[in-house]
Amino acid sequence: MQDRILVLDFGGQYNLLIARRVREQHVYAKIRPYNSVSPDEIRAAGYRGVIFTGGPNSVTDPASPHCDPAILTLGVPILGICYGHQLLAWMAGGEIASAGSAGEYGRVELTHADSPLFDGIPAKSVCWMSHADYVKKAPEGFSLIAGTEHCPCAAMADEDRKLYGVQFHPEVTHTAFGTRLLHNFLFIICGCRGDWTMDDFVAASIERYRRELAGKRALCALSGGVDSAVAAVLLHRAIGDRLTCVFVDHGLLRKGEAEQVEQVFRDRFRMNLICVDARERFLSKLRGVTEPERKRKIIGEEFIRVFEDEAKRIGKTDVLVQGTIYPDVVESGAGNADVIKSHHNVGGLPETIGFESIVEPLRELFKDEVRAVGLELGIPKEIVMRQPFPGPGLAIRVVGEITEDKLAALREADAVFREEIAKAGLSNMPNQYFAVLTGSRSVGVMGDGRTYGWTVALRAVSTDDFMTADWTRLPYELLERASSRITNEVRSVSRVVYDITSKPPATVEWE
Ligand code: XMP
Repeated sequence: MQDRILVLDFGGQYNLLIARRVREQHVYAKIRPYNSVSPDEIRAAGYRGVIFTGGPNSVTDPASPHCDPAILTLGVPILGICYGHQLLAWMAGGEIASAGSAGEYGRVELTHADSPLFDGIPAKSVCWMSHADYVKKAPEGFSLIAGTEHCPCAAMADEDRKLYGVQFHPEVTHTAFGTRLLHNFLFIICGCRGDWTMDDFVAASIERYRRELAGKRALCALSGGVDSAVAAVLLHRAIGDRLTCVFVDHGLLRKGEAEQVEQVFRDRFRMNLICVDARERFLSKLRGVTEPERKRKIIGEEFIRVFEDEAKRIGKTDVLVQGTIYPDVVESGAGNADVIKSHHNVGGLPETIGFESIVEPLRELFKDEVRAVGLELGIPKEIVMRQPFPGPGLAIRVVGEITEDKLAALREADAVFREEIAKAGLSNMPNQYFAVLTGSRSVGVMGDGRTYGWTVALRAVSTDDFMTADWTRLPYELLERASSRITNEVRSVSRVVYDITSKPPATVEWE
């Protein structure tokens, strides 16, 4: 059996990153809610180790999430992170207190003692802290193996029982030796071999769905994004023409996007593809709407309606294929198989259509793994490596009311920006980049005349996970070319600005 690590989820914001860091080291990480796995199950499943994640609560609060303390007696190594560290200390008989004004947030210098957990890590290094409580007294049998100026128990260990806790977050890149620390836990302490690979994923999935869906018909909503594209092509390889794909053009796509979907999936892969021109339907529902969340809701609901109408037209289909990936599964209920994600790309579950079952071939995979599968399936790089694009599309990039004119201007400006980034060979520099029609007008001068046109904002962000993001330092020359081309080529735009806000405090999208 391949090595498996259990990540017990206590609700922290970086939990997905923990699983990701583990899988990057070729060890399979399963995330489960803190109260969903019994000690017996952990033993029976043969997990090589357990990680308790961070979380927003205080372990001293009786309502805070606790797991069965018997987990500590299984003989399976445990690593507690942040809240998980405090919980481990609490369950083993230690003392937790509020740090008050001495709570630590951000980069802090860490000094460590000798321990397999810190193997190969310099005695002093930088770690990322974010805590209000702290371990005041480590439990009996535990020794302090690292500390910071304000946190004497920044890490503790009961080396005999292989129980470890760290107050900081090794999973975030700001912790200089975080990956090494996780590596030490996985390989030195848990004895993992790093034998988890994706090699036979494609072949095994095709074989599996060929068998499971014998004689059945399936429907898949293509969004134009990576996940649904990979899911659809994988299923097409398994069941061929019994799969029908539906692509809804809601009129909020980028320039050339609808055409590309038709060209790739219908012409190249020869898939059964239905393109629904729903532009008028969506735009009329959005007329006069200015509030971002309202826009999202309208689009989500209308998507379901359009999809339902198409499904009725197509006739009985047994199975709905969704491009749900692992982060979606975790976000919608930490691995609860009954929760089916409802996001804007696939429009939730149209229950009234009455599918026998849902097939989610990518639900175990992270984004980069999905991309690897896509390339293996021969999907063009432009789709597989595509930057994320929100389900509500340009609707949340036109600030305020959406009109055809604004959409047209934004589409052109966005295409110029993308083109200039590609020409400069920098497509891989920002993780996401786009133009925004800000909704504000300003005075300009063109030839001898005064203009009063839209202000377009260009946005480019660099990020690992989109939970935090830094604005990308694009070269001035590139920004200059984009600005000059946009103001020349897009009549209604008279000013271009570059967004230099990181997330937080701003979000990636403007709405
Ligand atoms: P924010 O703006 O929340 O964006 O910092 C983080 C990432 O999520 C994408 N995003 C969305 N994706 N539906 C989606 O499918 C949405 O409503 C939505 N809002 C934001 C955004 O493009 C970025 O990649």
